[in-house]
Amino acid sequence: MTSRIDWVRGNCRLLRAIAAEFATTQPFRDLTIGTGIHLEPKTVALLLTLKTGGARVVSTGNLNSTQPEAVEYLRANGVDVVGDRTTDEREHDEYLRRVLAAEPHLILDNGGDLFARYLDQPYERLLGGTEETTSGRMRLAKLRSDLSRPILVVNDSPIKQFAENRHAVGQSVLESFLRITNRATNGRKVLVFGYGSVGRGIAATFRSAYASVAVIERDPVLRLEASFDGFQVPERDAGLTTAEIVITATGAVDVITEADLDVLRDRVVLINAGHFPAEIAVERIAADARVAQRQDGPDGITTITLTDRREIYLLAGGHMVNLGGPRPLGNSIESMDLGFALQARCLEAIAAGRAGPDDVVVPVPSSINAMVAEAFLELYR
Ligand SMILES: NC(=O)c1ccc[n+]([C@@H]2O[C@H](COP(=O)([O-])OP(=O)(O)OC[C@H]3O[C@@H](n4cnc5c(N)ncnc54)[C@H](O)[C@@H]3O)[C@@H](O)[C@H]2O)c1
Repeated sequence: MTSRIDWVRGNCRLLRAIAAEFATTQPFRDLTIGTGIHLEPKTVALLLTLKTGGARVVSTGNLNSTQPEAVEYLRANGVDVVGDRTTDEREHDEYLRRVLAAEPHLILDNGGDLFARYLDQPYERLLGGTEETTSGRMRLAKLRSDLSRPILVVNDSPIKQFAENRHAVGQSVLESFLRITNRATNGRKVLVFGYGSVGRGIAATFRSAYASVAVIERDPVLRLEASFDGFQVPERDAGLTTAEIVITATGAVDVITEADLDVLRDRVVLINAGHFPAEIAVERIAADARVAQRQDGPDGITTITLTDRREIYLLAGGHMVNLGGPRPLGNSIESMDLGFALQARCLEAIAAGRAGPDDVVVPVPSSINAMVAEAFLELYR
């Protein structure tokens, strides 16, 4: 092993097996695949697997999460990487449009960024593609009739739901909290917003780390489920008044805003685990008249000091915490190997014409789920 990327590639057993197969079957021969996905070691393993399958891969990252070593490694291995790490939405928009300028036959999207922009300037040869996330599915479902190409939503595979969203994100958000703050969770009051797959995994993982966890969830049925799972389900403001660590995992915008400044307690830690950095309205909070000072620390901790001297700590600037801060690791290799094996198999199915025009923004076919599950059980024996 010479680098972390080599370590990750070596441990992605599913992707390694798929790459060995693709080297012979060449499912993407003469095709261009365009991607806009977090560029970090595990996506390197995925993109190089697609390349081994014969594709020209044109790729850019997501906002704020691009890792320079990943970009360097991809470029050295023949992937066209557009742009570099950026937190500037306009710059990011330009990178995405440059990926689309290559008129990829297949799009591997993360958050719906590429498919949504494709509609601004559609081109004939797009066969379809995949979407990785909940947030992307919500965005693209509204555009179904315009997209009219097969788009398989990897997020909606049961495998992604339990392996990544629930188990892996819970673990990596806990790992990120420990890594960035170096503080203990024992006995701390944690408030989780959202009780979807991601929120329930975070709640369970922090409880297993001896925190006292409460949940705020809009949907009363899920709120009831959280209660049955043993979490407190306080009224929103009551929860915020006592919480020492607040974690958003909703896929919604403005979950925590300047309107909450009066109820947040001194030294509260705010963390976002949702895909977009809009769950915590960071800029509006920082610009509020009750804020005396904002200091962006070097290690992913922003300190917001209020005029009444209370301090609020924000991790990773409100961006997805498990890909932020010093030496971010993201979700576990196993969970991403599973999700990316689904990606590779879905793109293969679309390239082979095995997904039809009615399959626009639909879950991964059960035959692919079964194939990937069996392969994992076999290869990780
Ligand atoms: N950090 C990661 O590595 C990672 C991995 C996978 C998914 N995600 C992201 O995490 C987010 C959540 O994913 P999910 O699969 O759990 O989604 P989900 O839709 O299953 O669950 C979100 C829940 O949040 C609730 N909600 C919405 N607005 C709320 C609010 N203002 N207050 C309280 N509850 C609210 C909804 O009712 C829903 O139950 C998405 O943005 C997704 O893209 C992050």
